[in-house]
Amino acid sequence: MIISFLNQKGGSGKTTLARALAVEFLNNDWSVHVGDMDVSQKTAFNWAGRRAEAGIKPEVEVALYREPKAALKAAATNDLLIIDGKAFADTHVYDFAKQSDLIVIPVGVSADDLEPSLNLAMELINKGINKDSILFVVSKVPKNGDKEAMATRSSIENWTFNVVQGWIPIQTSYSQAMDIGKTIHETKFKELNTTVDRIIQQIVDKALLLNSNK
Ligand SMILES: Nc1ncnc2c1ncn2[C@@H]1O[C@H](COP(=O)(O)OP(=O)(O)O)[C@@H](O)[C@H]1O
Ligand SMILES: [Mg+2]
Repeated sequence: MIISFLNQKGGSGKTTLARALAVEFLNNDWSVHVGDMDVSQKTAFNWAGRRAEAGIKPEVEVALYREPKAALKAAATNDLLIIDGKAFADTHVYDFAKQSDLIVIPVGVSADDLEPSLNLAMELINKGINKDSILFVVSKVPKNGDKEAMATRSSIENWTFNVVQGWIPIQTSYSQAMDIGKTIHETKFKELNTTVDRIIQQIVDKALLLNSNK
C-alpha cells in the first residue's frame, strides 16, 4: 500500500502527519518505509535519527530520495510505503499521486494555504486521479481558530472533496514532541494525543477501504 502526503505548500504539515501515520502502522505490526523526498530539508530523515538515538520504539525507517521512481521501489518490499512529499515539487506530485492508494493533502486555515491546495487537488483530478483517493486534513489551526477551521472544512466539502472530521491544532507540545523524536500522538498529554489519534484513525480507515476495493 502507498500513502502519499502531498502539497506544494511548505509547512502545511506533511512531515508531521507522515511520521504519526508511520508509527501508527508500525504499532499495528505493518512493515513501513518512509520516503523523505526533501533532500535539502531532510526533516523526516533527521527526526528518525533523533528517535533512534533516543531509543524510542518503534523505530521508523526513513530514507531520502530525489527521484519518485527510486522511492516507489520501496513499496515492493514493505507492507506500506509512506511518501513525505517536498515543497515546490510540481512534477513529483503527479508521479506519486498516480501510484498511491491514498493521497493526503494537509492544509492550513488561511486562504493562502487553502486555494493552492484545492487547485492541486483539481489538477490531479484533471489528470485522471480518482477524487475518492484524495483526503484533506485541516492542520495547524491556531489558538481560537475553531471557526476558521470549520469554515475551511466547509470550503473543502463545498468543492466536494473528502476532508477528515476534526483538525490538528497548533500546540507547542506537538513541536516539542517532534524535537525529541516523538510523534504528535506521543506527547505527554493524553488529550492532545487523542485529538491526533482521531485524525490518524480516519486516514488509516480510508486507506484500508481504498486498498480493499482495489
Ligand atoms: N500542529 C502543530 N503544532 C505545532 N507545530 C507544528 C504542528 N504541525 C507542524 N508543526 C511544525 O510546523 C513546521 C512545518 O510542519 P511540517 O509537518 O514539517 O510541514 P511540511 O512537511 O508540510 O513542510 C515544523 O516545524 C513542525 O514542527
Ligand atoms: Mg516536510
